Amino acid sequence: MEAFSICGGRPLSGEIRAYGAKNAVLPLLAACMLVKGPVRLSGCPHLADIANMLRLLESLGCRTAREGMDLIVDTDGASEHVMPEALSKQMRSSIFMLGPVLARFGRAVFTYPGGCEIGLRPIDLHLQGLRALGAQIEERHGHILCSGSLRGGQIHLDYPSVGATENAMMAAVCAPGETVIHNAAREPEIQDLARFLNACGARVRGAGSGAVHIRGGAHLHGCEYEPLPDRICAGTLLLAGAATRGDVYVRDARPQDMQALLAKLKEAGCTVQTLREGVRVRMRDRPRPVRRIETAPFPGFATDMQAQMMALLTLARGTSVVVENVFENRMSHAAELNRMGADIQVSGRVAVVRGVEALTGARVHTRDLRAGAALCIAALAAEGESVVENVALIDRGYDRLEEKLAALGGAAKRMEITDERR
Ligand code: UD1
Repeated sequence: MEAFSICGGRPLSGEIRAYGAKNAVLPLLAACMLVKGPVRLSGCPHLADIANMLRLLESLGCRTAREGMDLIVDTDGASEHVMPEALSKQMRSSIFMLGPVLARFGRAVFTYPGGCEIGLRPIDLHLQGLRALGAQIEERHGHILCSGSLRGGQIHLDYPSVGATENAMMAAVCAPGETVIHNAAREPEIQDLARFLNACGARVRGAGSGAVHIRGGAHLHGCEYEPLPDRICAGTLLLAGAATRGDVYVRDARPQDMQALLAKLKEAGCTVQTLREGVRVRMRDRPRPVRRIETAPFPGFATDMQAQMMALLTLARGTSVVVENVFENRMSHAAELNRMGADIQVSGRVAVVRGVEALTGARVHTRDLRAGAALCIAALAAEGESVVENVALIDRGYDRLEEKLAALGGAAKRMEITDERR
């Protein structure tokens, strides 16, 4: 198993660049199934989830290639509508393939997806959207069998799910007729998917609002596209700077995508500078507590930043309350942070974080991608050495995080551990 060894106590400072967002690139890769001719996506980081998605496309007969930070996908040869079970189980985002494969072949077979252990994560809303477009869906022996030729329809999502909105958008662009997705998710990645689809010839408007309108029946063609920068990676690096009382500038981070986080960083006493080409966060002192943070769909505070923010608040001069509203089981980092000397009490979805003067290095283990990033932040701020285990999960969403932290002056390195004693 791979781990990070991190020696804390050094303020992180310097400039680093944000690259394409995992959560933007993954649906774009699935959307390539709708496109005739090659697509080139630039600025795509090396992430395990992206590599798995490319494998999934290849297993359906597509050609994929990586040239540095560019990905080239040509789905013209795709001939398969059955998603391999092993790949689907490895990655929650495999669910994105359902809409595009169904739209392309009139049928799709799929296994219930895997992903981080952060809650039940059902897929009923994905299926609700596809049914509203005319899909027949049967669930048998853990497999989902979808069939039918899709047509435009009215979709009323019970909850603004990011993935369900994206799946419905992709399923609808080629289906004849008008589709409206009501109570759509408003995340920046939804807008990015719409921009990509429109660059390929689709007619999508309203993305970023609660109602996405799609004039279907388009024949999509390949294009060159740069996915939006990763607001979660950017936020993680800024928080690492703040927790170590440093000064980090993330070039190409888009402040409009991270307003809720930046507001909380200011409340915690950080100096936040939003520049035309990025975001800079400086912190001189121990953080101030933040009275209450509640995660919510965009533009609320992102659930994907909750763990990292909690890592900062462990060091505050007072008590903060963090409420996780999006996923029911996303507090696994609290117990690990407590191993490092934090004082966090969790009751269900609510964490009460009593700030301590200092954290101390410890051997900790992550069970969730963002929780892993939070442990790295805590380790950078702690006294002494920490070992963060199970970094394969961190690699799902961060491109060599340890190298980025080291480039900013943190003492972080990757190592192989055979001793799994805890
Ligand atoms: C996406 C992001 C993930 C982020 C999440 C919330 C990607 C690849 N992943 O995940 O990083 O944490 O948005 O911002 O973009 N739900 C249902 N039924 C469904 C679908 C979702 O009940 O069919 C529930 C989920 O269990 C969860 C909530 O809706 O409680 C939000 O999930 P959703 O917005 O769908 O998240 P994802 O698209 O899976």
